[in-house]
Amino acid sequence: MAAERISEWITTFDTVFPNHVNPLGTLFGGRVLELMDVNAAIACWRFCRLPSVTASTEPIDFRAPIYVGEIIELRSRVAYVGRTSMIVRCEVFGENPTSGERRLCTVGHMNFVALGRDKKPAPVPKLRVETELERHHHKVAQTIRESIAARRNQPLI
Ligand SMILES: CC(C)(COP(=O)(O)OP(=O)(O)OC[C@H]1O[C@@H](n2cnc3c(N)ncnc32)[C@H](O)[C@@H]1OP(=O)(O)O)[C@@H](O)C(=O)NCCC(=O)NCCS
Repeated sequence: MAAERISEWITTFDTVFPNHVNPLGTLFGGRVLELMDVNAAIACWRFCRLPSVTASTEPIDFRAPIYVGEIIELRSRVAYVGRTSMIVRCEVFGENPTSGERRLCTVGHMNFVALGRDKKPAPVPKLRVETELERHHHKVAQTIRESIAARRNQPLI
């Protein structure tokens, strides 16, 4: 049986420059998605040590805006693994750099597939789930896994 591996949280920081905001001074959703994709990909690479591609994303709710000049903190962790795929939970926080006020603005899940040298899906390690929170995130991701299976064979049009 393949050895289990833990998945660490991967944290990256960025800031909101004026070229990434709308006329209201809040960060574009597309920029958040880009940062989430990179942060989540690093979580996968560190977990399976294989190149991994984004296969799909789950609905993402932008619950609170992040303002120009604020700190963006992203943290991702592999929450569930299949045979060759990984479901990553990604959390995005906005932080006022002067007051220190920090809030959770967005949570999303992104689905990655590891590729071997032949560029075909390759097996990933099993995920060790230890804490209560990890078990909760694993359960949420299990539901996502079921929804991926249900929609996979639907035609794109
Ligand atoms: C993702 C990709 C490699 C899957 O290839 P595939 O031939 O469909 O793979 P398979 O049918 O062998 O499935 C392999 C795994 O991928 C998963 N998978 C396939 N399509 C998926 C999707 N849309 N969402 C989530 N998982 C998916 C399967 O569930 C399976 O998981 P498992 O091994 O854990 O059970 C392929 O669709 C691809 O290359 N897509 C483009 C990726 C890309 O370019 N991303 C960048 C953004 S454009």
